[in-house]
Parts: sequence; structure tokens; C-alpha cells
Amino acid sequence: MEDVGQLRSQLLAEIASAGDLAALEQVRVATLGKKGRITELMKSLGALAPEARRAAGQVLNALKTELADAIEARRAELERTGLETRLATESIDATLPARPEPAGAIHPITQVMAEIIAIFGAMGFDVLEGPDIEDDFHNFTALNIPPEHPARQMHDTFYLATAEGASKLLRTHTSPVQIRAMQALKPPYRIIAPGRTYRCDSDITHTPMFHQVEGLWLDRATHMGHLKGCLIDFVRRFFEVGDVPARFRPSFFPFTEPSAEMDVACAREGGELRIGAGGDWLEILGCGMVHPKVLANVGLDPEAYQGFAFGLGIERAAMLKYGIPDLRTFFESDLRWLRHYGFAALDVPSLVEGLSR
Ligand code: PHE
Repeated sequence: MEDVGQLRSQLLAEIASAGDLAALEQVRVATLGKKGRITELMKSLGALAPEARRAAGQVLNALKTELADAIEARRAELERTGLETRLATESIDATLPARPEPAGAIHPITQVMAEIIAIFGAMGFDVLEGPDIEDDFHNFTALNIPPEHPARQMHDTFYLATAEGASKLLRTHTSPVQIRAMQALKPPYRIIAPGRTYRCDSDITHTPMFHQVEGLWLDRATHMGHLKGCLIDFVRRFFEVGDVPARFRPSFFPFTEPSAEMDVACAREGGELRIGAGGDWLEILGCGMVHPKVLANVGLDPEAYQGFAFGLGIERAAMLKYGIPDLRTFFESDLRWLRHYGFAALDVPSLVEGLSR
């Protein structure tokens, strides 16, 4: 213990004279590191009698803290003077001419969302947004997908632990926005809700994050005829084809009854896909009449209101309309891809001028 005072001044001097961050780190390791001098001294305490051990332990602990503080202070000082010398010695030539940056481009997802909003907007739909991080009620239960329902398996997603214990999840579809709309608005209304969706899926035709647009039209006497008219009108305008033969195939969704998948006619000619021509069918969206249980789940009287809903995948719509062959390329952030498939920033879609120009 008699030597401790001397050791202290010696180590403090070493810290003060460390000329750069690397030298300081060497001093730190030699002092407080695993085999450092203070660490070794601490280990040797075990050999002392209990009384002496306690006293020596206190002294060493205080020294350890003092040295750690001194090292930190020296580190801050070295960092500051380092920055100051750089500022004093380096310079930027602000007179150099700018490098010409090519203009940015609108991503096809953004473009197609804007087109879809323009079309439904002209039909009187308002745009709503919901959170990407949803709760179980909005994503599943309110949509008539109870905990044990097999549809949950097809919607495997990313779960987040929360402090309250109730799990939150990344929404697997935009349908929870239907529920949020019903909770917030008084019918009648027409809304669409574009946005990101997530599932535990990753292969050639699935990315873990993708986009959908949800649609909901709720009124007193909305029926399947309105659904068909509205969606047929939509595909004609979206694909800019005067007449697109369409069919509604019976399907199943827990939150609609009856449910259907909508197919549009297409022709495949030598690798080219033509929407609207005969020969083949292509599925483009899911739809149906809002299930009475869903209305009841949000406190609406199923005897008084009925509505229809639909959900459409945006990537798929973009691939079909603009001939983009590979889904995964959407999210690779390859500028060459964006220059090829992207849209000019001022190319705002308008129904009068034609959507794709
Ligand atoms: N949410 C469904 C899906 O992601 C699509 C859908 C929406 C179907 C609305 C019917 C009505 O597969």
C-alpha cells in the first residue's frame, strides 16, 4: 500500500503524456485491462487478512475510478484537439464545379399507387392510412380471424414484444385499415388505403415486405353489383384498355361473404402479356361483401349497413402494367433498374392525359 501513491502519480503521468488515441489505449490496457497493473493488484487482495483486505480494496477501487476518469478526460481532449487540427489543416475548395447528378426517378411502386389513387379518387374514394405495426385485434380478430383460425398460418409475420405483453405485429395485409375506418368514420363512405404489408415469405415471387391497396365502400344498400361495376371500371382505367373481360371466381376470406377473386382476360404472345385480349385469365385482386360478423365486431348493425371490400397487390399490378419481370428487383435499390423502369418526377398521373404517358 505504501507504493500505491507512487504508482498513482506514475500512471496519471503516463495518461497525461499519451500523445494520441492509440497510445492512450495502450496505457488503458496496461493499467485497467485484464492483465493490467491495477487488475493484478486487485487479484492479489485475496492473499490478505480480512481487515487489511477491506482497507486495501477501498484504496484500490478509488484509484481505479480515478484512473478510468483520467483516461476518459484525456480521450475527450485528444478527440477535440484532433478535430481542431483537421479543421485548421484540411480545406474544401468550394469553387470546384458541381458534378452533374442525373435527375432522380419515381419508383414504379409510388407511381402505381398514385395512379390507383387517381382512379379511385375520381370515383369518390378518400385515402386513409393505418400503422404498419398493428395489434392482433385489427389485423386478425376483428376481421373474423380468431386465434385458432388456419388463415393465420398463411399470414405468418414478424411479431414484436411489447412491455404490456400483448404482442404487436407487422400487418400482414391492409385490411386492418378497414377496421380502423369503421371505428373512426360514420357511414356512408368510400375509402382506399395503400401501404406496406409484411409476411414471412421470401422467394422469387414473394418479398418479406410488399404493398397493397385496400378498398372499402360502406353504405346501407351496397351490393355485389356495385362491387363488380366499381372494380371492372378500375381495371379498364388502370390498364387503359376500353374493354377488359373480367370474371369473379368464388373464393374465401374470413372477413367477406361472399368472397371472390377477380381475374382479367389476357393473351400471352411470345413472352409478351396483353391485358384485355382473350385466351387466358390472370388473377389480380381479392374482394367480397363485408362479413356481417366484421360489422358486428366494430359495433355496426349488420341489418342496417352493408359494404364491399377489396385488396390488391401493388407490385403485381405494376409488373403487369409495365412489363417488369422480376419482383425482387423492386427492392434492390439498383439505380440502373430505377432509370429504366422509373418515372419522371413531374409525370403526375392524371385521368385526362392518360395514366402512363
Ligand atoms: N386482405 C386480403 C389478402 O391480403 C385481400 C382482401 C381484401 C380480400 C379485402 C377481400 C377483401 O389476401
